[in-house]
Amino acid sequence: MQKIKLWDLPTRLFHWLLVAAIAALFVTGKVGGNYMVWHGKLGILVVGLVVFRLVWGFVGSTYARFWQFFPSPARILAYLRGQWHGEGHNPLGALSVFALLTLAGAQATLGLFTTDDIAFSAPLFPLIEAELAGRLTGFHHQLANVLLVFIGLHVASIVFYARVKKNNLLLPMLTGWKNVEQGESARGGGIVALALALTLAALALYAASGQWIPEPPPPPPAEEAPVFNF
Ligand code: HEM
Ligand code: HEM
Repeated sequence: MQKIKLWDLPTRLFHWLLVAAIAALFVTGKVGGNYMVWHGKLGILVVGLVVFRLVWGFVGSTYARFWQFFPSPARILAYLRGQWHGEGHNPLGALSVFALLTLAGAQATLGLFTTDDIAFSAPLFPLIEAELAGRLTGFHHQLANVLLVFIGLHVASIVFYARVKKNNLLLPMLTGWKNVEQGESARGGGIVALALALTLAALALYAASGQWIPEPPPPPPAEEAPVFNF
């Protein structure tokens, strides 16, 4: 057995920040009221996290790169026949990784256009018609349930791998290291790559925050009521 570096620190930080943010988003979304302000901020954070991970999938270290675990039909077939041997996300796990990233990104993007019809309107709400915002808010509710199902499947499969397959996936996601029979440590994903991913994530945060939207012009002064002198 040898010890290899599997998940780099940015990938692990991304994962656990995403978990914490989404957990808090479900709580604040359901409680509503004053918590909507936090819901909005955390949702915007998810936009930044997902954009970070998308960039990191191209410039990050070996096992974080999308091409390394892209679930092509050939790879999935080989995995199902028990002929896949490798480290990192297996082809089925990779399907769930892409599904979770897509769902989290879509849910956060939809959220940017929603309103709770009480006191909270999302930052990009002013860009669309109220009727469309109402429909997107409906999708936001529905997609939250779909996301929840995928999170359940994700956690169940981690437990399945640990209990049945005796393969502890959790420890490497915490420490970065994994004991394997044969394999190489992750390489790449240096400081320049990190700076690029952080810059693009910061731009996404700015875009999602809606701060670039010009203030609406002040309403014209109300016409003075005519004064009648009788
Ligand atoms: C991945 C990120 C997000 C998740 C998981 C999430 C989840 C949720 C959940 C579970 C609800 C409650 C739905 C229900 O009661 O059935 C909700 C409501 C809501 N969310 Fe999000 N949300 C996310 C991102 C955002 C963002 C970025 C915004 C805005 C900046 C936002 C704005 C809202 C609003 C306004 C509501 C209330 C809608 C209503 O009262 O009808 N969400 N969200
Ligand atoms: C909000 C809930 C969660 C979401 C949205 C989520 C999302 C993800 C994503 C996107 C990845 C891919 C990581 C990457 O390549 O960047 C991943 C991997 C992983 N997640 Fe989660 N996760 C959630 C909850 C959890 C929980 C609660 C656990 C612990 C039981 C967990 C354990 C793992 C592990 C061990 C991996 C690596 C799997 C592998 O080795 O192939 N996740 N998760």
